[in-house]
Amino acid sequence: MENAFKDDFKSLTLTKIQKLKHGRFGRTSIKCSCSDLRFVIILLTSECAKNPDLMELLGRWRKENEAYYLSQFPISTERTTKWFIDKLVEVPDRMLFIIEISGKYIGHVGLFRFNFDKRTCEIDNILRGEKDFPGIMGCAVRGMTDWGRRNLKLRGYTLKVLSDNLSAIRFYQKLGYEEVSRIPLIQVSGRDGLEWSEAPQDYEGEAARYYIVMESG
Ligand SMILES: CC(C)(COP(=O)(O)OP(=O)(O)OC[C@H]1O[C@@H](n2cnc3c(N)ncnc32)[C@H](O)[C@@H]1OP(=O)(O)O)[C@@H](O)C(=O)NCCC(=O)NCCS
Repeated sequence: MENAFKDDFKSLTLTKIQKLKHGRFGRTSIKCSCSDLRFVIILLTSECAKNPDLMELLGRWRKENEAYYLSQFPISTERTTKWFIDKLVEVPDRMLFIIEISGKYIGHVGLFRFNFDKRTCEIDNILRGEKDFPGIMGCAVRGMTDWGRRNLKLRGYTLKVLSDNLSAIRFYQKLGYEEVSRIPLIQVSGRDGLEWSEAPQDYEGEAARYYIVMESG
């Protein structure tokens, strides 16, 4: 019986996400605030792939922040669009919201890798693209996670952050996240040269870099 509830929760959640991601861009617009700042985070939907300016913007932000990702590669609007469709729209448990304030896009925040048993998911792709409005990133993460609790019935969140990304670790600590474990990373050769990857479970060597796994308390 309990498993039937879990399966129901999973299929209802995935159906809901699918519907939202194929809706009109702007329909899922979550109101957020930060002291006296009012702004929105807007779910990126499948139709955004047809907006080359938006794809170019996402690509520029990715390139400017490539050090915080596992892999680095030449960026083009075509490649970003392909990533957007294959790795975001087509992935059933992944969502990305763009932060908009005063008609300007500032960065993005996302949700990925749902654990339907625990009713948790990872916060994903947290990225400040523009320098304006200090404080807005933390408020955007809070706005998204509050929305997930209300609308997707999530009970908690986890995240992975690179061990040398000290400012992001501090950022998450201020939001109430705490380290729960570490995943060693190893370098492997990828399509565009060496990239970092999670080490296999039985890896026993020294790791130069880790993913720090954090959880909201
Ligand atoms: C991680 C990241 C999103 C954090 O962004 P951020 O700009 O530090 O976050 P916020 O917008 O919430 O701003 C927080 C800062 O603004 C300050 N701030 C908040 N409100 C403020 C206000 N009204 N006036 C002035 N400063 C303010 C905070 O004190 C904090 O500063 P501090 O870090 O010196 O303590 C950003 O560094 C980033 O995009 N990094 C690259 C990508 C990345 O690493 N992502 C995480 C991968 S896991």
